[in-house]
Amino acid sequence: MPIQVRQGTPSDYPARERIFQGAFSAGLRPHIFPNGLTEADLIHNFSENLHGYKTNLSTSDTQAGQRIFVAYDTDTPADPSDLLFPEAWEHRAEYELSDEEKKVAKKIVGVAIWGLQPFARTQEQIDKEAAEEPPHAHAPGANGALLDAMDAAMTASKKKYIGLEPYLYLRVLAIDPAYQRRGVGSLLLDEGLKIADRCNVQAYLEATKVGRPLYARFGFEDREYMDFDVARYAPAAKDEPQHEFMVMIRPVGAKKIDGKA
Ligand SMILES: CC(C)(COP(=O)(O)OP(=O)(O)OC[C@H]1O[C@@H](n2cnc3c(N)ncnc32)[C@H](O)[C@@H]1OP(=O)(O)O)[C@@H](O)C(=O)NCCC(=O)NCCS
Repeated sequence: MPIQVRQGTPSDYPARERIFQGAFSAGLRPHIFPNGLTEADLIHNFSENLHGYKTNLSTSDTQAGQRIFVAYDTDTPADPSDLLFPEAWEHRAEYELSDEEKKVAKKIVGVAIWGLQPFARTQEQIDKEAAEEPPHAHAPGANGALLDAMDAAMTASKKKYIGLEPYLYLRVLAIDPAYQRRGVGSLLLDEGLKIADRCNVQAYLEATKVGRPLYARFGFEDREYMDFDVARYAPAAKDEPQHEFMVMIRPVGAKKIDGKA
């Protein structure tokens, strides 16, 4: 299983959706998309991702924005049930996959999306950036109240634990279930944390229960459980075990706990 890591590109979006659907089939995702992911939701997600790619990509360690990495299996194609770009997507022609890209998309087994803020900012700068952000619409089938509540809780935690400091934020780490517990998540974490080390910044994330032990091994420390009442926004979650996210911070220069780094 030779796994390689490379930077993400828009042609990875179908693979990315496939992996999110597999990796997040439990947890909160079923409450975020209570009726499953429709074609309209996919079109929305692809368009948002493409917009983010065009407007918010960090291409160097001195530029704030998104850094995306994918892991792919050079040998064995993953399940060939990749979603292709939806027929009605207006950018379809622009991102129609070549046969070669389709083959590669089937080999993608993991995705990591990071956000880099390499310099300290003043509160005025942070407020100005937030005010200048274009309005964000939720996917048509998404539980918008739940997403807004999560977003508010995440923003409050970031404000509390990062404040004005520079940081690298792990927005999403998701591995194809067939490839979990084989070191793919660790490879993607290693790649991203190199940026934190080069930039001399702390790393920050909100961990699911399954992710937490892995992050602890990479030097992330628990801060506190993120506080929001899922069942209030998704009544179907009321009898489920609590959906908890642990806010974790990897201090500047932290090493792997097992000393193998
Ligand atoms: C959490 C997640 C990203 C981890 O990815 P992964 O590829 O399974 O991670 P790794 O294989 O590198 O490490 C996972 C565990 O397997 C162990 N492992 C790694 N390689 C292994 C191998 N060859 N054999 C056995 N175990 C192995 C690791 O030591 C680690 O153990 P730990 O959890 O006790 O620390 C993945 O499970 C996932 O996508 N989960 C669903 C989505 C999610 O919750 N994402 C996290 C959001 S914060």
